[in-house]
Amino acid sequence: MSKKHKETIQKQFTKTVEAFAKYAVRDTPEILAEKVEFVKPQATDLVLDVACGPGAFPLALAPRVRFAMGIDLTFEMLRQSRAFQAERQIANAAFVSGEAEQLPFPDGTFNLVTCQCSFHHIPKPELALKEMLRITRPDGRLFLIDTVAPESDAKFELHNKIEKLRDPSHTLSLRLTTYLRMFEEAGVEVTRQGLRRRPRSFNQWMLRAGLEPHHKRYQETRRLLEDSIAGDRAGFSARPQGEDIEIVHNEGMFLLARQAEGWEK
Ligand SMILES: C[S@@+](CC[C@H](N)C(=O)[O-])C[C@H]1O[C@@H](n2cnc3c(N)ncnc32)[C@H](O)[C@@H]1O
Repeated sequence: MSKKHKETIQKQFTKTVEAFAKYAVRDTPEILAEKVEFVKPQATDLVLDVACGPGAFPLALAPRVRFAMGIDLTFEMLRQSRAFQAERQIANAAFVSGEAEQLPFPDGTFNLVTCQCSFHHIPKPELALKEMLRITRPDGRLFLIDTVAPESDAKFELHNKIEKLRDPSHTLSLRLTTYLRMFEEAGVEVTRQGLRRRPRSFNQWMLRAGLEPHHKRYQETRRLLEDSIAGDRAGFSARPQGEDIEIVHNEGMFLLARQAEGWEK
């Protein structure tokens, strides 16, 4: 990753740590619980959550596994994760600093490696996937969650343009077909897949990026989104709701395992 992109990520997530922690951790317990059930954690699991942000996912997994670690490149996010850990008195978790593309662990360290809502920030997601696979035991699992972009070229472009205007650290939301191709190329197979519609408030989504109605970037993003409503040209299924707008993110959840050797198609 370039120094410039790393600094953009760190700046964005240092600025937004409080808002992000509020909406990503405290206000969505039922969605977190759904994701924990989806991954079917085992009491013997050693877990690493990559790009853990404020630690919501590893802290939700910790009571169900042997040990859960989180890694992130934004120091303030790690500080917030440790504060949530202390608040909940969770002993079997730890948070360390590092990058998804260069994970500081030997091969085969973990038997469950997860990454939630972060691949769209990573310029070369195939490198992060390769690293996640390297540190996973041969019989281990990977779990990837992220927003999925529309397949149509025009919608895909506008969708990512809106995302990037809202948050300069956004690189690219990928299409479902891109994910599936990337998994195939990495030698992993999807053992369980879920696609969910996640409706959310536009204003809350903007607050999570540190933007309020008086900010120029809020206004520009809102204008672009409103212009896309007729014909759903950006794939957000946006619907005005009073002063606010309801938008929908399509979220993909992929439980992955190494392809069995000698497996014939
Ligand atoms: C949208 S937040 C998601 C946080 C968390 N996974 C969640 O779902 O609540 C993205 C996080 O990814 C981190 N991040 C982005 N690129 C990264 C990279 N290459 N390596 C490690 N962390 C990264 C950011 O610092 C930020 O905390």
